[in-house]
Amino acid sequence: MEFKTIIEPFRIKSVEPIRMTTPEERAHYLHEAHHNPFLLPSDKVLIDLLTDSGTSAMSSRQWAAMMLGDESYAGAKSWERFFEEVNDLTGMPHILPTHQGRAAERILYSHLGGTGKYFFSNTHFDTTRANIEFSGSTAIDLPCPEAKDYDSDIPFKGNMDTQALREQIQKVKAKNVAAVILTVTNNSGGGQPVSMANAREVAAICKQHNVPFVLDCCRVAENAYFIRHREPEYEHLSYREIAQEMFSLADAAVMSIKKDGLVNMGGFLALRNHALAEACTNLLIITEGFATYGGLSGRDMEAIAVGLEEVFEADYLHYRIRSTAYLGERIRAMGIPVIFPIGGHAVYVDAARLYPHIPPHEFPGQALVCDLYLAGGVRSVEVGSVMFGKYDAKGQFVAAPQELVRLALPRRVYTQSHLDYVIEVFGAVIQTREQARGYRITHEPPFLRHFTAHFERL
Ligand code: F0G
Repeated sequence: MEFKTIIEPFRIKSVEPIRMTTPEERAHYLHEAHHNPFLLPSDKVLIDLLTDSGTSAMSSRQWAAMMLGDESYAGAKSWERFFEEVNDLTGMPHILPTHQGRAAERILYSHLGGTGKYFFSNTHFDTTRANIEFSGSTAIDLPCPEAKDYDSDIPFKGNMDTQALREQIQKVKAKNVAAVILTVTNNSGGGQPVSMANAREVAAICKQHNVPFVLDCCRVAENAYFIRHREPEYEHLSYREIAQEMFSLADAAVMSIKKDGLVNMGGFLALRNHALAEACTNLLIITEGFATYGGLSGRDMEAIAVGLEEVFEADYLHYRIRSTAYLGERIRAMGIPVIFPIGGHAVYVDAARLYPHIPPHEFPGQALVCDLYLAGGVRSVEVGSVMFGKYDAKGQFVAAPQELVRLALPRRVYTQSHLDYVIEVFGAVIQTREQARGYRITHEPPFLRHFTAHFERL
């Protein structure tokens, strides 16, 4: 007999207390933080769904491995462990360790890019776009048309629009294309997966035009889960074999290991081409560290080598994807508009539809982020006009294309009862949705304002 309840496939050996707060205390803390949850101290947060990056709980095997850390400057045993693991996973001969994903991005994209160069992606993550634009290049998002449809159950809304990719390469000329980047899963596109068929087609187009194909693979294990369960030819392969097949299509891979590496810090750049690896290694040594540690200590590399194995375990991935879906499906059944199907690492709520009376320039997503904190101490992040809204040359407000709130689930950290609590908090929020009010920005920095802006409730 198969049971329906999805249990956490681990026992808890070490615990970290979280402190309960009253609604009055939360109102005070949020006021002190200028209504920007990024400015809240973490001990004032009950359930922290700000990000799934670097927030994983490590296993006892990982903690044990850390004691084996070899901290030699060059040629450490821990580097060999790290290299063997990443080399086996990616099949790429050149591996550059970095302290996190954006360091690998900066090295590769500053080398490939430059004025007049183009990068195409299913959707560039913010730091990816920032690194590309900083190098003088242009970053263009080419998500598949189904990505805009929040309600249908189309299985691979993270795919790239391959027709648009062909047209764009024709338009800007292949020699000006620095790289094509496939982000798996597509974080900024709702955490939706990319199919192997789409990756294969993107690879073929890149090969035809002799353009480098890069995999941004920070959630590649979660993506493999969706492929195995939604793309029939893959149901007999293991999750790791599916990921290996995806890497085999690419020329390079950048990874923020802070996600599917099940660790708190780390990244890598993996390359097939020897000359490119040599050039990137020089950049690595200038800013990150020697080629056998990058920005990492030996103990970090040990924990990563174990994490990259554990993340592909079938019981773990099943629990991971099912618990994200559990949260998303329950709040959807309650009437909360979400991006559907639910993605791998996060639930994305459509705040514009939840609060239709709050116009984009009064930030419905920010209103929801604040309401979730006030109602139950839940911290989430706005992905809408606070993050991506702009002012045009005449000073007119230009709204972001969507007003979302992301609830990202740290890996192996919260239990089902924590999620049941979050679902109850949504129950409270939906009851008072008509009273929700917008926000006004009272202070903002020139770049990446969502991190530090101050707000006032209207
Ligand atoms: N690529 C993707 C798809 C990401 O989601 C991130 C980080 C990065 C690259 C950069 O990696 O943080 O290690 O430098 N995403 C985090 C998030 C911050 O909350 O989604 P990093």
